Amino acid sequence: MALKDRLDQDRSAPERSGKSSIGHWRARLLEEINLDELARLTMAQRRSRLEKVTGLLLTREGPVLSPGERAGLIRRVVDEALGLGVLEPLLADPNVTEIMVNGPDTVFVERAGRVYRLDGGFASEEQLYQTIDRIVAQVNRRVDESSPMVDARLPTGERVNVIIPPLSLAGPILTIRRFPRAYSIEELVGMRAMDAPTGMLLASFVRARLNMVIAGGTGTGKTTMLNALSAFVPETERIITIEDSAELQLKQAHVIPLESRPANIEGKGAITIRDLVRNALRMRPDRIIVGEVRGGETLDMLQAMNTGHDGSLVTVHANSSEDTVNRLQTLTSMSDVKLPFEAVRDQINSAIDVIVQLSRGPDGSRRIVEIAVMDKSVRERFSLQPVMRFEAEPIGADRVVRGRFRPMPLPPALATRLFHAGESIPPAFAPRSMNGSAGHGVPVPPGAPPGLGTTSGPEPPHGREPLHGPGDA
Ligand SMILES: Nc1ncnc2c1ncn2[C@@H]1O[C@H](COP(=O)(O)OP(=O)(O)OP(=O)(O)O)[C@@H](O)[C@H]1O
Ligand SMILES: [Mg+2]
Repeated sequence: MALKDRLDQDRSAPERSGKSSIGHWRARLLEEINLDELARLTMAQRRSRLEKVTGLLLTREGPVLSPGERAGLIRRVVDEALGLGVLEPLLADPNVTEIMVNGPDTVFVERAGRVYRLDGGFASEEQLYQTIDRIVAQVNRRVDESSPMVDARLPTGERVNVIIPPLSLAGPILTIRRFPRAYSIEELVGMRAMDAPTGMLLASFVRARLNMVIAGGTGTGKTTMLNALSAFVPETERIITIEDSAELQLKQAHVIPLESRPANIEGKGAITIRDLVRNALRMRPDRIIVGEVRGGETLDMLQAMNTGHDGSLVTVHANSSEDTVNRLQTLTSMSDVKLPFEAVRDQINSAIDVIVQLSRGPDGSRRIVEIAVMDKSVRERFSLQPVMRFEAEPIGADRVVRGRFRPMPLPPALATRLFHAGESIPPAFAPRSMNGSAGHGVPVPPGAPPGLGTTSGPEPPHGREPLHGPGDA
């Protein structure tokens, strides 16, 4: 059998096992009922109404079934028709970014960065389990005592995590993360995640092939930032993206998205981020973008960055720039290749150029709080030089975060590197001149255009559109 047929057969196997007939009865049911009337009923009334109609249809048109088979079929048809029940209206609401179900009675949602408790919940624990079953069945997994934690994805892209008792002491827990919307850098500037000069600086970092780490805590907007930055990778490059759960949405024509795979029910067949990074290196990439490094793949990534695969972008879970380098060190040690401490430090030092640190404010806003450049002239320890910091004002009664993005002069070595890559430096980040005054010229390499690093800089050398947006948040 041809490879393609074999793969198709594997993929369609779960569909064939009786599902087509459920689809048939679901379609018949939807023809039969009045959808407007159904919308006015509560969830429990809806279920009993649909069960009644399905029962009638089966009596009239269905095959001869045992009472057990009949009850089972009715339940599955109705489950199918009800979709994800309580979750459906939440999933239909574009402002909901996260749905958190803590047992049948407690549902929280996140809207615009803030978490609210919902009135009502699932009719029963059984109904919640049914919903969970339906979600994980779509990825051909099941949740039970032997596999009480499962990651899945809805067909619409939402990421789902399930954990059930006995591991969860609060009943079955379902966490649904909305497929993140792709924002451009201009939009992020508009949302005050950074100011316009910072956006221009980051864009030139990407074009100049700096190795960048986007760092932050959970849900601070790392993937969103990575996606926005990846837009500045030139069209001419071959880009390989590697993620646990594909979220990046690159616009370029030459992109190869790779996604890791968890082990199957028997615990076999897992393909890790690390496997994919290693494979990607054999695919002649111009750029490798890794959704998140969280294990031994960190060493492979660092080695790739140090051996000609510059311009790589990764995210990592860390709470400050210092924490980021320490975390990279820890993650590197998770590799099966054991390197001495000094060697790991040297790898990180020479691989990483820039760390972009994100944070989420108490008002739900996400922003860049620091950009730090690795000072590679120091070898004995990590030396990070901040080039931008968000300075927050004391928080007022309205709990809204305000402050300003404070630019700092770029280190001369970095300015020179940008210059050689044909990038101009936003005036706010112009390096100090040799005599120490800010904003008057980089140590200009021979042949540099007049105005590089001065407050009246020339047009960007590639004639790119400048970024628009308010300066301070
Ligand atoms: N600057 C921003 N302003 C407002 N909302 C944002 C901003 N950046 C991201 N978000 C929203 O925050 C949520 C989390 O974003 P994202 O998935 O990028 O975070 P993350 O740090 O990658 O999360 P995780 O740690 O789970 O990987 C999404 O709903 C996203 O749309
Ligand atoms: Mg993410």
